[in-house]
Amino acid sequence: MVERPYTILSCGVSLDGYLDAATPDRLVLSNDDDLRRVDAVRADVDAILVGAATVRHDNPRLLVRAADHRERRRRRGLGESPAKVTITGSGRLDPGSNFFTAGQSEKLVYCASRSVSRARDRLGGLATVVDGGDPIDVGEVSLDLGRRGVRRLMVEGGGQIHTQCLTADLADELHLVVAPFFVGDPRAHRFVGAGTFPWHPGNRAHLAETRQMGDVVLLRYLLTKRPAVVGSASAP
Ligand SMILES: NC(=O)c1ccc[n+]([C@@H]2O[C@H](COP(=O)([O-])OP(=O)(O)OC[C@H]3O[C@@H](n4cnc5c(N)ncnc54)[C@H](OP(=O)(O)O)[C@@H]3O)[C@@H](O)[C@H]2O)c1
Repeated sequence: MVERPYTILSCGVSLDGYLDAATPDRLVLSNDDDLRRVDAVRADVDAILVGAATVRHDNPRLLVRAADHRERRRRRGLGESPAKVTITGSGRLDPGSNFFTAGQSEKLVYCASRSVSRARDRLGGLATVVDGGDPIDVGEVSLDLGRRGVRRLMVEGGGQIHTQCLTADLADELHLVVAPFFVGDPRAHRFVGAGTFPWHPGNRAHLAETRQMGDVVLLRYLLTKRPAVVGSASAP
């Protein structure tokens, strides 16, 4: 039986729970110590998932930065950085974005059926475009990643993706970093939107760790009792 990957949701939020500031520029919530921590988490996963809006707005590279982490991955028979995965309904993705151009790792685009041919035309050989159905069910994406050898997955936002992973009970850990300021702009994206979440006053999530890094704090929650699994050498 195919198992979905052990899944870690990771993001930074303001004190009032925003992921960004509704401005064209990327909001810096993190600091250097936290970026080093995130790099170490990335180095231990087979794939990193972000939503298409995050690819468009933040233009993330999604690479492992530290040379020692990259070397450790090579010694394990892995690529220097995990595979990159995104989900899109529209297929509106720029082939020149860092998601596609930075690094050598495999890129997977789960695309709604209606936009698959447009996405394949746009992206050419830069990524594998997978027909994800319409609408795309993130649970099916997770299982498909499992079939492709992804045993450990990191989800780096944005809010729509986090909401779906949490409400579908697909997340094993949540790494939430809280930055010491407010955004206060309802046009900005929150960490999650409305939904029915498995954790509520009658079912509190398990806080496994708090870690202060300068002026930000990591809250690490264990959301399932599933034992953590290590990454796979046969991942895409
Ligand atoms: N603070 C942090 O740690 C952090 C991390 C990541 C992102 N962010 C911020 O978050 C913001 C983006 O968040 P967001 O909630 O707007 O977007 P998002 O979750 O990054 O992406 C949403 C997009 O993904 C696609 N999508 C998601 N689920 C889908 C499904 N089931 N079926 C088909 N397509 C699906 C759609 O793409 P199409 O529009 O192409 O159809 C949708 O518009 C950005 O401003 C970014 O700066 C912050």
